[in-house]
Amino acid sequence: MHSSSTATPAGGGLPALGLIAMLDDWFRTLRIPMPMATWRKLPRSAAYKYEYINGYALISPRPACCNATLDFASFLKSPHLQSPDIRTRTMEESEWDALPPLMSMAFWRVTPFESLTDKRRLVAAKDCLLHTRSGGDGPLIPGACVIATQTDQQQPVGAALVTLRKPASGQDAPIPLLTWIFVHPWIFRRGIGQTLLAAVVQRLAAMGHHRMESCILLANPQSLAWHWAMGFSLMRDRLGLASLRRNQR
Ligand SMILES: CC(C)(COP(=O)(O)OP(=O)(O)OC[C@H]1O[C@@H](n2cnc3c(N)ncnc32)[C@H](O)[C@@H]1OP(=O)(O)O)[C@@H](O)C(=O)NCCC(=O)NCCS
Repeated sequence: MHSSSTATPAGGGLPALGLIAMLDDWFRTLRIPMPMATWRKLPRSAAYKYEYINGYALISPRPACCNATLDFASFLKSPHLQSPDIRTRTMEESEWDALPPLMSMAFWRVTPFESLTDKRRLVAAKDCLLHTRSGGDGPLIPGACVIATQTDQQQPVGAALVTLRKPASGQDAPIPLLTWIFVHPWIFRRGIGQTLLAAVVQRLAAMGHHRMESCILLANPQSLAWHWAMGFSLMRDRLGLASLRRNQR
């Protein structure tokens, strides 16, 4: 089911490719009848691919993403709001089953999930989480995967899942990767995302890590805004170019 032909080996190479290969399964192309003259004038977004075939515009979300890095020393120095009515704990193995409905709700307005029905979105969430749990995004770091709950409840309202990616050539240590972070959409912007991130950073720093990476879909501006507010910055390759990766389609 996965687009393995476009993926790098699990956990290897750049963090972007495994994730977008996985999400690529869920991108849906819109097929809209229109004259070619109209299609030519259509405003374009870098987050979509535009094709024209037999009187139809084919518009498909483009799984392009950028790789970002977070330095723990500067994160821990800067003041981050800790949500007072939120508790975090290391995720238990038994809690995986609670995640798909939460993930499905969190991503309901995020490409490519937003183009799916509720039922399909839940299937997509299960699929993505299974992929992560089984090591498809690199070995899981169970001690750094964190659940957020409201003080008086057990049910998770947010989760952060961290995997380890093998070093790209020229790097000497495997780097933790913030593979998924999501919060219940009714309580966005209450500091839960940053509370989760702080809990992840504390755990990874205690394990001896100094930084982590994240792969952010360009079609997810809220995620970009959150990562940048948290202090993530764009990774640059050895030529000094900002890291932007896209599936070969
Ligand atoms: C991204 C996500 C985890 C952020 O969690 P959150 O609890 O809503 O965000 P926080 O309260 O920690 O936000 C901290 C800061 O990030 C920035 N930020 C967060 N969401 C933002 C948005 N939608 N637009 C602009 N800035 C945003 C703001 O600066 C915010 O501080 P402020 O609210 O005081 O202005 C959450 O929105 C989410 O689950 N989104 C859907 C899933 C997703 O896209 N996950 C990321 C990719 S795996």
